[in-house]
Amino acid sequence: MSLVPISDLLKKAEEGGYAVGAFNCNNMEIVQAIIAAAEAERSPVIMQASQGAIKYAGIEYITALANIAAENASVPVALHLDHGTSFEQVMMCIRKGFSSVMIDGSKLPFEENIELTNRVIAVARAVGVSVEAELGKIGGTEDDIHVNQRDALFTKPEEAKEFVERTGVDALAVAIGTAHGQYKGIPELDFPRLEKIRSLVNIPIVLHGSSGVPDEAIAKAIKLGVRKVNIDTNIREAFVQGARDVLNKDAKEIDPRKMLGPARAAAIEIIREKIRLFGSSGKA
Ligand code: G3H
Ligand code: 13P
Ligand code: ZN
Repeated sequence: MSLVPISDLLKKAEEGGYAVGAFNCNNMEIVQAIIAAAEAERSPVIMQASQGAIKYAGIEYITALANIAAENASVPVALHLDHGTSFEQVMMCIRKGFSSVMIDGSKLPFEENIELTNRVIAVARAVGVSVEAELGKIGGTEDDIHVNQRDALFTKPEEAKEFVERTGVDALAVAIGTAHGQYKGIPELDFPRLEKIRSLVNIPIVLHGSSGVPDEAIAKAIKLGVRKVNIDTNIREAFVQGARDVLNKDAKEIDPRKMLGPARAAAIEIIREKIRLFGSSGKA
């Protein structure tokens, strides 16, 4: 199969009341792990590459790996740009074959975020590529958002409604209490805010920073309309632990395959667990 846009996958997820996992990839083994997990679970899957991943692996390698993965897969696979911040970079990803892109204008003032998102949509629509945008500040766990800052930084439901009406974006990432990276404590999601956003916005909602969010909170967010769940940190943890275990057992190991094979196997396990949690097993 060739790569599919995320809107196809999220539309079905909407109908079925589940979410599709969006897993970050940086190298061949993680691409293979994402596909192996999706195949084992008979689940649609989104592979996503951040600007950091593109810088690390090279855009040609990322798209080549994703294309080979999708062609050989019996489940639908999307290749999505994660947190694209410049118009030029998003265009390059579309040109190189990404089936879906995120334009993250969340650091811009509201009007400029709309303007940038609309410029991307105008091109993406013409070539059948889906677009995800972000409204509100998701940030990193190191940002330590204080309770009284939540209102200022989290997505405002009325703004989300206006944003979606004025852009027609395919999916919207919202700030409701998650953060990228490892959490120091247990994240507290603002479910009333999510519910309000969802009542005003009739498109799939995206949850970023989902590693480390308790399973029950993820399940509740999906019930309330989250249809794409982003996971990176949990894969990194499993992958590196898999490699570390090998080296802990034999510090003299010099065969990269003996280290990366178990790392890949550990990544498959965690991705399968997430796919089951998101409810997309058997939906391919
Ligand atoms: O959204 C953040 C993702 O975890 C990507 O992280 O920029 O280090 O690749 P990265
Ligand atoms: P985590 O690394 O916290 O899972 O976040 C991933 C993410 O949101 C990628 O966009
Ligand atoms: Zn993110």
